[in-house]
Amino acid sequence: MRNKIIGKIAVAGALLATTSLAQAEDVEVLHWWTSGGEAAALNVLKDDLQGQGYGWIDMPVAGGGGEAAMTTLRARVTAGDAPTAVQMLGFDILDWAEEGALANLDSVAAKEGWDAVVPQALQAFAKSDGHWISAPVNVHSTNWVWANKAILDELGIAQPTTWDEFIAAMEAVKASGKTALAHGGQAWQDATIFDGVVLSAGGTEFYKTAFIDLDMDALGSDTMLEVFNRMTTLRSYVDDNFSGRDWNLASAMVINGEAAFQIMGDWAKGEFLNAGKVPGDDFLCFRVPGSEGAVSFNSDQFAMFSVSSEGGQAAQGAMAAAIMSPSFQSAFNVVKGSVPARTDVPNDAFDACGKQGMAELAAAASAGTLVGSIAHGHANRAAVKNAIYDVVTAHFNGEYDAATAVEELVNAVEGAL
Ligand code: GAL
Repeated sequence: MRNKIIGKIAVAGALLATTSLAQAEDVEVLHWWTSGGEAAALNVLKDDLQGQGYGWIDMPVAGGGGEAAMTTLRARVTAGDAPTAVQMLGFDILDWAEEGALANLDSVAAKEGWDAVVPQALQAFAKSDGHWISAPVNVHSTNWVWANKAILDELGIAQPTTWDEFIAAMEAVKASGKTALAHGGQAWQDATIFDGVVLSAGGTEFYKTAFIDLDMDALGSDTMLEVFNRMTTLRSYVDDNFSGRDWNLASAMVINGEAAFQIMGDWAKGEFLNAGKVPGDDFLCFRVPGSEGAVSFNSDQFAMFSVSSEGGQAAQGAMAAAIMSPSFQSAFNVVKGSVPARTDVPNDAFDACGKQGMAELAAAASAGTLVGSIAHGHANRAAVKNAIYDVVTAHFNGEYDAATAVEELVNAVEGAL
């Protein structure tokens, strides 16, 4: 009898342990990877973790650039219900760390040697007060153009190498009746174009002075006028239905041959690959003409919100370690369109655009021409970023002419500081 009872207690105890372990070992992941290419890349991560026995609770919040995801995150944290792991960008990570909300990842970072392999530019956002607070999964960059090769061939257009050639190419496409520039009129997409245009019109030093140092003279300069003039020019090459269109639908226009070009971060490549397209054969990737040599980057990182249970912490540690493993960094970034967040990953598995991106990232890091993306939270805190969004978008939608946009930019940034 006694043995039976003990047996029952043991079984119940074991069950309890299994149940709590199973619950504890789930990770709930908040992210905004909902397009076809993004979902394919996310599956690489999901499969990796599930293969190690960790459950995945998906918390997708659609909306490119992650603004909606960050709103949801704030609401969840306010309600005392933070997800375990969250996709985040740049200064948002540092803000959450300063609020004391993020788990310390030092032990997994030390064990896996992150300090030696993660570039300084990424560590600036993955560490707070000298402690690791997020695991960088990739490096994207925004000053890219994606082009439909068949359209260019048909119209006899060579890959443009200067801003003027780029405009001439778009003019020729427009004259043919096709859309020259596929674009979605959403503030973050307008700002993504702006990253490349600032680099193209002003160069890296100007970009840094105006948008990293927030020098008011640079923000109000003639060079900035040229930036907005170029934005006005680009505006004349989008189709009538651009307003509100999602970025991946703009990519689809280039993929399907409705449009010739899209200026977008290299997550766009994930859409081309997901559609079975091959770089060099079906599409071309090149830097926004005039911005060659410079790289405006953003790095998706996973920050872990502090949890008290040991199982939860173990799952977070396992996720962080999985994200940073070299083989995962290769497998994931090949699909995502980005490049690895560590410097020791071989480029063998990457296509031509990926190899180019890896080489250019390394070159820009050593030449001092690697700059944080304005549009994707790597140049400024959210208040300044949003102030810039407002002006860029208002100008793109014709509310301001270029000269007014320059004045408004100075006012908006000053007001947000
Ligand atoms: C970026 C993010 C990319 C991609 C893109 C569009 O902010 O870094 O990974 O998801 O938004 O959603």
